[in-house]
Amino acid sequence: MIHEILEAKRDGQSLSEAQLRELIDGVVSGAVTRPQTAAFLAFVFNRGMTVEETVALTMAMVESGDQLDWSQMDGPFVDKHSTGGVGDKVSLVLAPLWAELGSRVPMISGRGLGHTGGTLDKLEAIPGYQTDLEAEQLSTILADVGCFISGQTGSLAPADRVLYALRNETGTVPSIPLITASILSKKLAEGIDELVLDVKWGSGAFMQTHDAATDLADMLCRVGRGAGVMTRAVLTDMNQPLGRTVGNALEVEEAIACLKGDGPGDLATLTVDLIGDPRARGLLDSGAAYERFCRMVRAQGGDPDAPLLGAGCAEVVVCAEVDGTVTGCDALKIGKAAFVLGAGREHADKAIHPGVGLTLHKKVGERVAVGEPMVTMRVADVGVERARAHVDAAFKISQD
Ligand code: URA
Repeated sequence: MIHEILEAKRDGQSLSEAQLRELIDGVVSGAVTRPQTAAFLAFVFNRGMTVEETVALTMAMVESGDQLDWSQMDGPFVDKHSTGGVGDKVSLVLAPLWAELGSRVPMISGRGLGHTGGTLDKLEAIPGYQTDLEAEQLSTILADVGCFISGQTGSLAPADRVLYALRNETGTVPSIPLITASILSKKLAEGIDELVLDVKWGSGAFMQTHDAATDLADMLCRVGRGAGVMTRAVLTDMNQPLGRTVGNALEVEEAIACLKGDGPGDLATLTVDLIGDPRARGLLDSGAAYERFCRMVRAQGGDPDAPLLGAGCAEVVVCAEVDGTVTGCDALKIGKAAFVLGAGREHADKAIHPGVGLTLHKKVGERVAVGEPMVTMRVADVGVERARAHVDAAFKISQD
């Protein structure tokens, strides 16, 4: 009975696997009403959940919809999830690189909401690249190429869509068991054996502090393992953007440079660390990972040799007004600059501009002289003054 389940959680008791399955089945079928679901979320927010309960909630959410099945080919099947950051184009490098090492990477990804575009928005800057492939096409590409990066098929973890929307409405998003079940249910429905999590902390991250990110990483690893998937986490600093570009086409350009062994050091190092195989670095330097990326792009309908979409933007260069050393390059403010230029979206149905964004010529620890370029903004017709103000506020330069 639903009200008994709700009362148990209200009073701080642990729920059983059967109770959580009944609840999630009811959330998807509509048998559990929206007020009941909202009450459940609030009780979990206040009372928390054990690891065992969170495993049961995650599995009930996985089983609420389709699960991808790769039984007709050999694995291992691996994937990465990032809690999101500014300039985070790791997926574009990691999927082909990991495939080049012999794993299969069935990467289901999302669009961005908020300050920058998501992985699919970035890839859609490549002319022709399709992100809405059907399960059968995905299976063919995974068998032939070893990796894909596409959007949600059919209904993966439909319970998460209902719960996430209500969490937004009821202020219950920042709950570690609810975040864990939300992230893992979508990833485990991909049919993977191994998952690596990039849990970011800092100004441009979902988790603002190192301690909060550590707690989330710990829960994600315990629950992932409890659900039978080899799960690791890497904690990364998101106080300044990753790499030197923020914006969709700009990030694809930088990911391609990295795939050719010529990308920024922090992007290459993080990608190699996440894969956790020392051979990965050599495959970037040899260009083998880039070849695999081109095969994936072609298999998904894109043309890796065509100019990226969004060309024709004007450039505005922001120069240093003092000599010194950069001591801060705030990721959130740089993300906001990209957002006001049109690189991100406020609502799911809004369009983004593929070409706008920022290139950072200076990052933390680097010397700068008066008049030297700090940032080049690629701009279209909106937000230039506001972006400029965010850029000015993002940088701290010490004159000592
Ligand atoms: N990302 C998700 O997919 N779910 C959350 O709850 C938070 C971040």
